Amino acid sequence: MQVIDIHSHFFPKTWPDLEAKFGGGDWPWLKHFANETNEQGYSKAMLMKGQQAFRPIYSACWDAEVRLAQMDAQGVDQQIISATPILFAYEKPIEQALYCAQLFNDAALEICAKDNKRLFAMAQVPLQDIDAACKEASRAMKTGHVGIQIGNHVGEKNMDDEGVLTFLQHCADEDIPVFVHPWDMMAADRTKNYMMGWTVGMPAESQLSIVSMILGGGFDRVSKQLKICFAHGGGSFAFLLGRLENAWLHRDIARGHSAHPPSYYLDRFYLDTAVFDHDALHLLVQKMGTERLLFGTDYPFPLGEQEMGKLIKTAPRLTSEEKQLMLADNARQFFNLSV
Ligand code: CO
Repeated sequence: MQVIDIHSHFFPKTWPDLEAKFGGGDWPWLKHFANETNEQGYSKAMLMKGQQAFRPIYSACWDAEVRLAQMDAQGVDQQIISATPILFAYEKPIEQALYCAQLFNDAALEICAKDNKRLFAMAQVPLQDIDAACKEASRAMKTGHVGIQIGNHVGEKNMDDEGVLTFLQHCADEDIPVFVHPWDMMAADRTKNYMMGWTVGMPAESQLSIVSMILGGGFDRVSKQLKICFAHGGGSFAFLLGRLENAWLHRDIARGHSAHPPSYYLDRFYLDTAVFDHDALHLLVQKMGTERLLFGTDYPFPLGEQEMGKLIKTAPRLTSEEKQLMLADNARQFFNLSV
């Protein structure tokens, strides 16, 4: 079976000192630990945000040889890499965000250049400025990216924002696949313990994005050609679709601007399969259909699928044809891959 992982992240090994360049004390950078390795023997680094430790990472993030060796060991044929949302710089002035987008987009292609048949990249765009975001999306696709990853909100602006919808229409017009990743999670003050920002906030963010896109009339307005995929199985969306549908049917103010009930739009978007549980995957299959699900791991992070592909390969209620659709065929079509 071919296996294409559409949700994996990278960091370049180094990049210019953004604080020295632009000022401000909250820029991301990597603190490398010379001579220190993790339990698997790989070099370690700490992802820093200003002077704050943000997340420990290891060399799979920047070293394509390490990534390819782990893909070989776990039977992953292709991987699509994308930035980690901390690199988006949506809150910065547009010149700075555009600089970061081009810097990290070009760096992603350098990593992929180690094996252009197996590694592909999605680009980031400065989504706080729609003209600049559209231009960078088009530029990135010309330089070899296979899609664009966006954060699921820009400050207070959700997926029903006029600018965001304009950007999505641009992507639809140019056949640019879009992957929506949750970030900058809600209720930060109340979720600061136990990684609840990731286990509670992120799934809620993804649900909020899909709901705002539907009820904001986004799917009525943006062309059907748009290929859009939400991360982490769409978060809590599928489980709570019944609640949303019930609200739409029985409470006028819950309908927003959507011409149809929420369940009408399920054939307008895709979800990845990073849900870590067979019952959750089965629910996604029942709600979305196997043709709308793309295999994704969130590699190489601790909250990703540690044995890449195991969830789908060992799913008890799926045929091998259905598994092949989710593991590779859907991704090949979604990202227009020729592998
Ligand atoms: Co991710």
